[in-house]
Amino acid sequence: MHRIFLPVLILILAGCSGSSKPEGAKTFTIGMSQCNLGEPWRVQMNADIDAAAKKHSNLKMVFKDAQNDTLKQRAHIEELVSASVDAIIVSPKESQPLTEPIAKAYQAKIPVIVLDRAVQGDQFTCFIGADNKKIGKAAGEWLRKKLGPKATVVELKGLMTSIPGQDRNQGFRSGIEGSGLNVAFEADMKWLEPDARKEMESALARLSKIDAVYAHNDPGAHGAWLAAKAANREREMLFIGIDALPHEGIAYVKQGILNATFQYPTGGAEAIDTVLKVLSGQQVPKTIVLGSRVYTADNVEQGGEALP
Ligand code: FRU
Repeated sequence: MHRIFLPVLILILAGCSGSSKPEGAKTFTIGMSQCNLGEPWRVQMNADIDAAAKKHSNLKMVFKDAQNDTLKQRAHIEELVSASVDAIIVSPKESQPLTEPIAKAYQAKIPVIVLDRAVQGDQFTCFIGADNKKIGKAAGEWLRKKLGPKATVVELKGLMTSIPGQDRNQGFRSGIEGSGLNVAFEADMKWLEPDARKEMESALARLSKIDAVYAHNDPGAHGAWLAAKAANREREMLFIGIDALPHEGIAYVKQGILNATFQYPTGGAEAIDTVLKVLSGQQVPKTIVLGSRVYTADNVEQGGEALP
């Protein structure tokens, strides 16, 4: 009789032994596939995820950095699936090539939270990000209010194989539609400050007058400003960017380098929140849209203003 109950007793004792976690809590391993850590915004995203995860003693994070290499990021997702992690958070470099490995992870019943850059289709658990079309449109509307109808604009685009690049472009064009603003130079600077600087050098060489630069992120806007400053033309034009990190875009506005920056929240805390809900069996929405704020010289000291 006693023998029959012994295994049960061992299980109960094992379950109670030496854990600081709440009774019965299982440790969950969460894989985070980051497309690169070369940009301050992505370093902030990982820090936000880490800080949120550390509040839960039953979460263990495994961070992967694909160093801006799509093939490496595909391999990282496959590795996380092979390691049977309990959930995956992924901020993909490019939309199309990351769609398949993400779908495979999801089909292997691993919850997948896609953060900031969307993929195609619906084979993932939840997408979290701000509305890039709305941000781009707000940037366009902000510029059309500041500039006369015949003004010349340079658009420095983020990687156009990523959805935020496409949406920030489309949104901006809808914001300036019918205004007479002329986008006289546009280039893909792939989200990178050195590329933006180089593209801006070409724009400056080609255009004798530039009224504004719209860059899809703050590193791009700063790169453009550096090129204009080197040509002694930075006072000729307005510079606007997107991201609004406190130590980057917001600091540039305070220093008078940028005229406006639009916040692009990292969603790190929301990603952990969503993972916890999924792991505890709760339903989560397919899409979570984060808000944004605009920071200008007029409102930066008051903490900016929310986009309507
Ligand atoms: C960083 C970044 C941000 C931008 C986001 C878009 O890699 O370029 O500056 O807002 O990605 O996905």
